[in-house]
Amino acid sequence: MKLIKAATPAEAGKLAADIFEEIIRKNPACVLGLATGSTPLPLYRELIEREKAGKINFAQVRSANLDEYKGLSGDHPQSYRYFMQENLFNHISIDPANTIVPDGLAEDAEAMCADYEKKIADMGGVDIQLLGIGHDGHIGFNEPCDHFPAVTHEVELEEITREANKRFFASLDEVPTAAYTMGVGTVMAARKVLLIATGKDKAEIVKKSFFGPVKPEVPASILQFHPDVTVIVDEAAASLLD
Ligand code: GLP
Repeated sequence: MKLIKAATPAEAGKLAADIFEEIIRKNPACVLGLATGSTPLPLYRELIEREKAGKINFAQVRSANLDEYKGLSGDHPQSYRYFMQENLFNHISIDPANTIVPDGLAEDAEAMCADYEKKIADMGGVDIQLLGIGHDGHIGFNEPCDHFPAVTHEVELEEITREANKRFFASLDEVPTAAYTMGVGTVMAARKVLLIATGKDKAEIVKKSFFGPVKPEVPASILQFHPDVTVIVDEAAASLLD
């Protein structure tokens, strides 16, 4: 594991963008595994700027997102598809047809999840998987449980996660109770993993995940076993590390 300390969330975004830039330059048709939440926003802003400045080009890039709320359509302002359009895709040259996000409105959830795995495999797998981290150690929406889920599946959301995400909705009642997420196995299959954690409220889970025992009760801890994982933390998120 490579641990990089940044001074601020903005610097974390720049350092993450350097890693993305290198991958896109090496392989202009690479597959990016993308994430939502507030953590990736500085990175996405930086990527938009870098394409405008002619440093990178997204025309051939493909992407697969980690997760989506169950029951929300892609044009619902709180859906993760909408988030990606607003915060990245609408501002870069990526072809919308080359971006996939689980379908929150799928009638047959199991078939949609199996198809999502197949789509990722058909793309040739993920070159770099971007991750944030939940306060309980969840990655994507893989919540603490008694095993590491292997593939894309439906999950019930923990109350702590719904509480954390309610800031984007009018009230807690409106936060979906379930979601679709890539499995921990899907994430571990990515050739490279880049996790960003910023803010003091992430300090404890960063310590537990990367310097504690590997166990499914702390889903992100499995990343300790990934052969190519980079963790970028800002000063606040690193504050409990020695
Ligand atoms: C959500 C997402 C995760 C994300 C997490 C942390 O639950 N499903 O992918 O990592 O929130 O979000 P934030 O970056 O806003 O702290």
